Amino acid sequence: MANILVFDSGMGGLTVYREIRRTLPAHNYIYCFDNAHFPYGELSEPDLIAACCRLVTHMVAEHHIDLVVIACNTASTIALPSLRAALTIPVVGVVPAIKPAAALTRNGCIGLLATPGTVSRAYTHHLIAQFAPGKQVLLKGVTELVIEAEHKLAGRPVNMVLLREVLADWIEGDAKPDTMVLGCTHFPLLDDEIRQLMPDCQLVDSGNAVARRVAHLLAAVPAAIPVAGQGRAYCTRLDAQAQKLTAPLQAWGLSSLEEVEY
Ligand code: DGL
Repeated sequence: MANILVFDSGMGGLTVYREIRRTLPAHNYIYCFDNAHFPYGELSEPDLIAACCRLVTHMVAEHHIDLVVIACNTASTIALPSLRAALTIPVVGVVPAIKPAAALTRNGCIGLLATPGTVSRAYTHHLIAQFAPGKQVLLKGVTELVIEAEHKLAGRPVNMVLLREVLADWIEGDAKPDTMVLGCTHFPLLDDEIRQLMPDCQLVDSGNAVARRVAHLLAAVPAAIPVAGQGRAYCTRLDAQAQKLTAPLQAWGLSSLEEVEY
């Protein structure tokens, strides 16, 4: 059985964890989120790399981790080289699903919904140039929706007026994407609400591709008997707001929530 660390700034990484656990139920999962530095999409690149590397290397050493999944596009598009240099175990990242979206679009117009950090990265612009040549790729970086996704997970209703405002030019503008890349792991948490507003648009994320990659890397590791709800969650600030997440995390199979001491 492998110890798998799934990491994000907040609750978004759960959408990737869900896909990995569905594919590989018989491993041990630790979900860690850096809520003390949330939202990552607003951090400077050096601050993000420093925060993410310090925490992930600590968690890997402390919990005998065999494989890390950086379930955050914002971190993956900038911090993977530093993380891989600091660790000797496999580090799997998640980056916006531009390649599958380019294969799926019929009208040649793709929307990339991500964080301000992700849409500004050279990495993202290279992905688009490499995998979507000749397509129109519209970029939107929106922290407000990351926060809405956090609220939804904590049981609060999604602000549909805000969501409509954010998507307005894709719903009724001249260039209407028929395919939307959910380039932030928080956004699959809002897929029902996005579908309500854009029913004809196909939504694409990277969760499945990451799960396949992890399965490939762990193919040789013997699996144990799956035990429901044996995963554990860690955060970097166990304040009142984080404590409210204990029950939702349990519903995702993560039985405890503790603060990382580092
Ligand atoms: N979930 C993260 C991502 O995939 C980032 C959210 C944030 O902290 O800004 O980009």
